[in-house]
Amino acid sequence: MRIISHRGASAYAPENTLKSFALAVEMGSHDFEFDVHQTKDGILVVHHDFDLKRTAGHAVRIADLTYAELKKYNVAATFRRDKGFQYVPRLEEVMDIIEKPSHWLNFEVKNDHNVYPGIEEKLLAFLRSKRGLFEKTVVSSFDHGTLKRFRELSPEIKLAYLGHNLSTVLLLPALKKAKAVGAVNFHLALRIAFKFNLLKIKKAGFRVCVYTVNEKKDALRLKEIGVDGIFTNHPDILGKWTLKG
Ligand code: G3P
Ligand code: MG
Repeated sequence: MRIISHRGASAYAPENTLKSFALAVEMGSHDFEFDVHQTKDGILVVHHDFDLKRTAGHAVRIADLTYAELKKYNVAATFRRDKGFQYVPRLEEVMDIIEKPSHWLNFEVKNDHNVYPGIEEKLLAFLRSKRGLFEKTVVSSFDHGTLKRFRELSPEIKLAYLGHNLSTVLLLPALKKAKAVGAVNFHLALRIAFKFNLLKIKKAGFRVCVYTVNEKKDALRLKEIGVDGIFTNHPDILGKWTLKG
């Protein structure tokens, strides 16, 4: 079972920052998940929300800022353990840290009603610009239109389905949508990650990764029932790690 660091080692460092990714690497992570947005001037950046309210305390939207403007905000401002200045990194800077040690990378593209026009072409070009990157990449999105555009642009790109407010009842239509777009993975919320659902998804032919798993007992249960990967803010959830220095 893959232990996928979720937004970096985000339990210990401000999520989706260079510090968080560097720490995940230091902790021995090989599998990574992070969220991708696009600035007003077309730069791919890594952050979870569409705006900076929760992380920086300012309700400004990434889509409305140039990268030079965005970079001025401290997205560690509300992180309890460490408020030292951290900016929203460019995707390229995140790659400089995690690409080499990575075995598997999940680019979760945040796009709502195409608020980031052209993000699909831009990301595909980025993935092709570095040797070996495309092959170890899985692109996911809660926005189904985005997944469809990725598929139209590339028959080869590995896609993962994500569904908002999914329930056991809504699983069958979701599996149909995932199939229609040619997804290979199905990323499932912990809330509904029961054996019954897992078997249904597996039977439909998908690999299953579960988010967000921060308790060891959940991680062990999911491993036991045959989940392929867990997204966790604690890359050390199942192993030992001691902070050096
Ligand atoms: O990609 C898995 C998980 O990160 C999806 O939810 O809201 O944490 O991006 P969210
Ligand atoms: Mg995510």
